[in-house]
Amino acid sequence: MVDFEQPLNLEHEYLLDRDCTTLSRHVLQQLHSFSADAQDLSALMSRIALAGKLIARRLTRAGLVEDALGFTGRTNVQGESVKKMDVFANQVFISVFEQSGLVCRLASEEMEKPYYIPENCPLGRYTLLYDPIDGSSNVDINLNVGSIFSIRRQQGEDQDGTAADLLRHGHDQIAAGYILYGPSTMLVYSIGKGVHAFTLDPSLGEFILSSENIQIPTHGPVYSVNEGNFWQWSEPIRDYIRYVHRHEGYTARYSGALVGDIHRILFQGGVFLYPGTVKKPEGKLRLLYESAPLAYLVEQAGGKASTGTQDIMDVIPDHLHTRTPLILGSREDVELVESFIADRRRQTEEQTVLTSKG
Ligand code: AHG
Ligand code: MN
Ligand code: MN
Repeated sequence: MVDFEQPLNLEHEYLLDRDCTTLSRHVLQQLHSFSADAQDLSALMSRIALAGKLIARRLTRAGLVEDALGFTGRTNVQGESVKKMDVFANQVFISVFEQSGLVCRLASEEMEKPYYIPENCPLGRYTLLYDPIDGSSNVDINLNVGSIFSIRRQQGEDQDGTAADLLRHGHDQIAAGYILYGPSTMLVYSIGKGVHAFTLDPSLGEFILSSENIQIPTHGPVYSVNEGNFWQWSEPIRDYIRYVHRHEGYTARYSGALVGDIHRILFQGGVFLYPGTVKKPEGKLRLLYESAPLAYLVEQAGGKASTGTQDIMDVIPDHLHTRTPLILGSREDVELVESFIADRRRQTEEQTVLTSKG
């Protein structure tokens, strides 16, 4: 017979308390409310978590399952080769939001136009923007990949079905985050009240709080960039990389998946760069479902996100798949990169004035 008069020992109490801090409970705690909006956000996050669990399950067994790995043979709207896992993960997010009454539109890297769920539209006031698999090149070799998500409230009626209201700055985001499929599956999110990380406990099938109120160090040792593009960058980016080569205390880390690289920087500090190149002056990364959600998250953790000349959060896209250069991470490190860009620009302007006078 259980003696309820006898208190549990402290360690059990601590562990049970920790295990009860699930993602949906955390969202409600953060909002201090059971209002309709709070319930919506909590339900949204639970569905995103379900998508994460479904994708993690397939990734875990990918080498053993028919048709999980490799290319589909198609290219997406970005002109990039589509992998079977991209298609699967894209569909997972659609499926978890069908009949949810929550999300009326989804927009993703893998779909040229927004996807409407008409039965949700009279109710669903939210839009989900997402990168279903970030770092697809890692999928076939069993390295870490991620999913990135952002939630925006629908502005107005979208009567012509063009989702033109999505072409707004990042301050419109009401929640953002990523799921990292690594040795553990982790979900990191913010609803504008700090950044919190959850680890999937497979025995419970629940994301359990593992780090609360993460603060990114103001400076860190890591610089994370594809140096194979060195000769395609503009001079100030090359100047910055020459600077880190010549100074002690820097170390390079680049995994090929933005989510993994940002996760490291969030906890340990440093800077991630995907600058423009000669061929692609806007860089590679897409604003609405890659750069803006991560900028929201990193700013919530006390860091900074920039194109090099403008805050990422202020950039207004001109179409759904707009790209921007991205410099993201510890405040001091991002500012240092920006200072190289500003210095070069000043020198060029001075040179132009001298030439025009001379
Ligand atoms: P995605 O797989 O969604 O297309 O994103 C890949 C992105 C990003 O995760 C990563 O940092 C970068 O592309 C890698 O690109 P490079 O191979 O050009 O370095
Ligand atoms: Mn990506
Ligand atoms: Mn992707």
